[in-house]
Amino acid sequence: MAEYAVLMEKEGRIHVVQVTDEVIKHKGLGVLNSAALLGNVDVGDEVLIGQKYLTRMPANLPELISGMARRAQTISAKDAGALITKLGIGSGSTVLEAGLGSGGLSLHLAKVMGNSGHLVTAEPRSEHAEVGLLNLARAKSCFSEFPKHTHLEGKLEDVVPEIDFDAIILDMPVHSPAIIASAPMLIFGGRIACYAPTTSQLEKCWRSCEEAGLTVEWAGELMERQWGVASKGGMRPVNGPFGHTAFLLIAQKK
Ligand SMILES: C[S@@+](CC[C@H](N)C(=O)[O-])C[C@H]1O[C@@H](n2cnc3c(N)ncnc32)[C@H](O)[C@@H]1O
Repeated sequence: MAEYAVLMEKEGRIHVVQVTDEVIKHKGLGVLNSAALLGNVDVGDEVLIGQKYLTRMPANLPELISGMARRAQTISAKDAGALITKLGIGSGSTVLEAGLGSGGLSLHLAKVMGNSGHLVTAEPRSEHAEVGLLNLARAKSCFSEFPKHTHLEGKLEDVVPEIDFDAIILDMPVHSPAIIASAPMLIFGGRIACYAPTTSQLEKCWRSCEEAGLTVEWAGELMERQWGVASKGGMRPVNGPFGHTAFLLIAQKK
């Protein structure tokens, strides 16, 4: 298994670097033999690469998310945390997730599922899967525990495996066929979550879950507002976008 190190620039930019004896190009850092360079660099130590001083950081979930390879839009901590809690996902869970995309949500799931969990991902676009699988490979090498992982190529509705799932999470442009195809694999009491950027998608998810015999338990969006120390003292919400990510819908098999 490849080994990875996390390096942070002074300004906070994170690089997740494969530690290898080969002299290869590392995005944002240039061509180097990372194994030779990082051989004596412990967590907390600084290293000079080109013109930049970087600090070696522990390879925790926030660092791997910050430095992840990206292609498709990812699910961030705000929504991932709620999905994990509302679906009751943890050590030993069996979870079906589609589409894999960049693997943003998968990293959060893998972190809490432990060695006894089983994460099954599906993704029809190979260029997206390549990025998502790279991020999962990095996490596998950095996390102390990692679930069994099965990846399926294709649209979820065409590749649903005959496995009993505790939870199913769907983040894709068109959810209905995937809901109808995957709901039968949910265990009694298990839950399905849909991540839907628009209200029209949300309504279709609601109707499809009911058509699949599930009971909608919760639908809505989560608001997050960051605060900081004001220049004249006191704390206030920071300037910046107060954006929308997506609507979440949770439905249970009862
Ligand atoms: C927004 S991305 C998912 C991002 C992912 N949740 C993350 O956090 O990185 C949506 C993905 O769903 C995939 N997709 C589209 N239709 C699908 C389907 N029917 N089954 C599985 N994946 C699908 C797309 O190719 C795309 O990669």
